[in-house]
Amino acid sequence: MQIVRLDSLDAPELDDYSRLTDVALRRRTEPAGGLYLAESTKVIARALAAGHRPRSVLTRESWLPELEQLLSGYPDLTVYVGEDALLEQLTGYHLHRGALASMHRPVLPEPAEILRDAKRVVILDGLVDHTNVGAIFRSVAGLGADAVLVTPRCADPLYRRSVRVSMGTVLQVPWTRLPEWREATPLLHEHGFEIAALALGDGAIPLDRYRPGEKVALVLGTEGDGLGRHALSSADTIVTIPMLHGVDSLNVAAAAAVALWAITR
Ligand SMILES: C[S@@+](CC[C@H](N)C(=O)[O-])C[C@H]1O[C@@H](n2cnc3c(N)ncnc32)[C@H](O)[C@@H]1O
Repeated sequence: MQIVRLDSLDAPELDDYSRLTDVALRRRTEPAGGLYLAESTKVIARALAAGHRPRSVLTRESWLPELEQLLSGYPDLTVYVGEDALLEQLTGYHLHRGALASMHRPVLPEPAEILRDAKRVVILDGLVDHTNVGAIFRSVAGLGADAVLVTPRCADPLYRRSVRVSMGTVLQVPWTRLPEWREATPLLHEHGFEIAALALGDGAIPLDRYRPGEKVALVLGTEGDGLGRHALSSADTIVTIPMLHGVDSLNVAAAAAVALWAITR
């Protein structure tokens, strides 16, 4: 790796790391030729293991020995090293996880490629909160589902907060974006999937009585309004987690974990 010690923030290459506030990045989804940020040596290691290409790395002096090992296969990669205060001025937050890598976004696979061999997939229908997206990926990985599919307007799984909350599992679990429901529904059916919408309401099958088929696509709705009408009308089955004590619903990531536990047993 090529080490560049920073005494100012003038280099245009450092733009990758600036304006990293949640508000500024929330609207950036898969920009053309886009980048994403991998934070912490553990997450960078996962990204590299997934075959993603690093563009540069930002760190402080004390983390260099660990990075040298991790990045030994990248002799031309620039690693910017700076004092904490300078790094914080650049990124807008304290870099306490050792390093931040600017990574080239991978090309997303076609949905059919993912559906071919999967048996349990989760569909995120328009979720807006990156924390929930990251937490669901972690559950998908930890509970043994095969993949995640996100609808066109769902929050970006490669957004910094999603990556962090997922503990890097967004770099490990196969995922891609689906087309709109009118195209996604026949595609799921062609690949033998039962579309099971997780929703509230009378007439839904309680999760403990639900008997999933061989291939299930579990659909989760947005934090405020729940599932959109296209998702609901595409569903073959509606499954609900019975609620007690006047609580109307669970947080979507909690609902995903409960349902995934049930359908992956
Ligand atoms: C916070 S909830 C949305 C609540 C929304 N008011 C509604 O009526 O669906 C977000 C998502 O989590 C899932 N969810 C939360 N609690 C659930 C429950 N008890 N049963 C089934 N799904 C649930 C659903 O997929 C829902 O769309």
